[in-house]
Amino acid sequence: MNILFLYKEEWEKDYVSQKLSGHTITFSKSLDEVNKETLGATEVLSIFVYHKCGESEISKMPNLKLIATRSTGFDHIDLEFTKARGVEVCFVPSYGENTVAEFTFALILSLSRKIPEAHNQVTSTGSFTQGNLRGFDLAGKTIGVVGTGRIGSHVIKIAKGFGMEVIAYDPYPKQGLDLELGFRYAQFEELLSLSDVITLHAMLDDSTYHMINDLSIQHIKHGAVLINTARGGLVQTSSLAKALEGGVVSAAGLDVLEEENLMGEELKLLSDPGKHTEEINNILVNNYLVNHPRVIVTPHIAFNTEEAIRRILDTTIDNICSFALSNEVKNKVAI
Ligand code: NAI
Repeated sequence: MNILFLYKEEWEKDYVSQKLSGHTITFSKSLDEVNKETLGATEVLSIFVYHKCGESEISKMPNLKLIATRSTGFDHIDLEFTKARGVEVCFVPSYGENTVAEFTFALILSLSRKIPEAHNQVTSTGSFTQGNLRGFDLAGKTIGVVGTGRIGSHVIKIAKGFGMEVIAYDPYPKQGLDLELGFRYAQFEELLSLSDVITLHAMLDDSTYHMINDLSIQHIKHGAVLINTARGGLVQTSSLAKALEGGVVSAAGLDVLEEENLMGEELKLLSDPGKHTEEINNILVNNYLVNHPRVIVTPHIAFNTEEAIRRILDTTIDNICSFALSNEVKNKVAI
């Protein structure tokens, strides 16, 4: 098959070429760098979360049959358009829920124990004073987990290990999971009002878009910490900025941001500001959050461990092989 693989790191090319030998593979960093002839011949496209795949991108590939995204989320793909075009989409449903759950706790602990501030203080001033670096215990605090899927469940297990009280919200509660892991399901507003730490683990779709907004923030327990390792779109960025200002949210750990793909692309957007008002506004607020002393922003790295990257590639290669050999769409995104 003709495979177009949008890669990130050089080593991926050798790894993928070996495992998919027998196929014609073109490697590129982005779709814009691929010539018309290759696009025309592409039957399988492999992408990552920052490769937006909408109508204009997909239309460049008239022979496209399968999009294999190397991610758990698939909100970067226009599924209505792939359906209309008859293009199948597969994803990587599970490559290590521990990986993202561990990172969630890395953010929580960084905030609860002020680790970045402590490191900065020691390296930039040499001072070993401790007064400004007092944190808070996790044991005995309540954590509210939004979304009890693969990652959320793992977060619950880790939280129990820290001695935290756990409540969770999921519109599709898993039967028996609460008893098995020792937590209580609650309504969304109740979770917001009781939690000292709120952590988001739902997918981005119409039901979760901006679920943290001006209205829902009114329910948040004063001084709670917000963690988002799911997708930027779950949080209305401007509402979070206001909540931080007012102290409703005392601190935030954000691995994902709305418009994170456009950070650093300000000049491009400013060439036609009228067309990009919302994006420009979000980037402005993102910069506010990046520079906020009580916010930790990381560049979408919760998935990024040696072990998880290999598992992501292996599952994607397996997805592509099954399709090439038997037309079977493994790990199909249900539309
Ligand atoms: P999952 O599909 O196993 O779990 C999602 C859960 O959200 C399900 O239990 C579902 O019932 C629940 N849900 C659905 N609608 C909801 C709503 N309105 N409110 C609250 N919960 C709702 O997905 P998984 O594997 O746990 O991943 C969760 C998300 O984490 C992914 O969709 C992806 O966006 C994000 N992610 C982020 C990564 C990163 O590097 N930052 C890496 C991997 C995933």
